[in-house]
Amino acid sequence: MQLLKTSLAALALSTAGLALAVPAHADGEVNIYSYRQPDLIKPLLEEFTKETGITTNVLFLDKGLVERIQAEGANSPADVILTVDIARLTEAKDGGVTQPVQNDTINKDIPAQYRDPDGSWFGLTTRSRVVYASKDRVAQNEITYEELADPKWKGKICTRDGQHSYNIGLTASMIAHHGEAEAEKWLTGLKNNLAKKPDGGDRDQAKAILAGECDLALGNSYYVGLMLTNEKEPEQKDWAAAIKVLFPNAGDRGSHVNVSGMALAKNAPNKDNAVKLMEFLSAGNAQKIYAEQVYEYPVLPGAEPSEIVKSFGTLKADALPLVDIAANRKKASELVDKVGYNDGPSQ
Ligand SMILES: [Fe+2]
Repeated sequence: MQLLKTSLAALALSTAGLALAVPAHADGEVNIYSYRQPDLIKPLLEEFTKETGITTNVLFLDKGLVERIQAEGANSPADVILTVDIARLTEAKDGGVTQPVQNDTINKDIPAQYRDPDGSWFGLTTRSRVVYASKDRVAQNEITYEELADPKWKGKICTRDGQHSYNIGLTASMIAHHGEAEAEKWLTGLKNNLAKKPDGGDRDQAKAILAGECDLALGNSYYVGLMLTNEKEPEQKDWAAAIKVLFPNAGDRGSHVNVSGMALAKNAPNKDNAVKLMEFLSAGNAQKIYAEQVYEYPVLPGAEPSEIVKSFGTLKADALPLVDIAANRKKASELVDKVGYNDGPSQ
């Protein structure tokens, strides 16, 4: 894996600049534009090169990926887009920087629920928006999202920013299941149960539970695996040890899930290699790496999550198609503002 050394500052020159750094078309290469961290995708790309002999060039971006490909236009070197969240996958499609792929191998590996009907994007892994519950202070081992609005939890819940895409996805799923009016009541109830103003990332909510600031939090499933195994910041192991994972709505519709995923870039100069990479990422070996090293759930039917993730219990995923979540994202964002979610609990 080779990192492309181009900066966003060079955006205006990017077409020429990047073309110099990497020939747009080269035998045995594929160019990846990624919102996913280089460290995270490195083991996958190394395995891909080992299996196919195709080398990978990665441009890592933390914002502006769609705008960049738009600006590069027909000369864009981008072959494959890697990202997380249904929001960013639909943003890429709506921004006109993807092209559809109809490929029997990929379609067989990835269930229809987790891909765009036109083949403009594909989910590769799922992650559930679970409840982190204090081991010491929460006796119950079951919960629903609806229950988070129950006044019995007043002052007990912590979450990150309501506008963060992870929370927008969940709120969008509540709209899809219950309608906008009910979802607004729910979000108002949840806001009123907050212990403090939304702040930090998902891991910070586990830290807040350890500190006794709250008893329940919303968080993505994989962070628990990442905290439990964190050698760089071992204090995160203590945060994770303070919580248990509750899969919301396990007894009815199942827990909300979002995806990490991929798309074929609109002008992919190395299209054949790009499709080979997409086939690789959806197949067994790559799905196993995602499960073992990133603690996400493989989308490939029959592929197992890691032992750590299995220890949380069994995920029953909400069967709501991701396109229905995407369709309600804008309304969800408006609701977050309307109820003043980020102002925190009312006094
Ligand atoms: Fe994340």
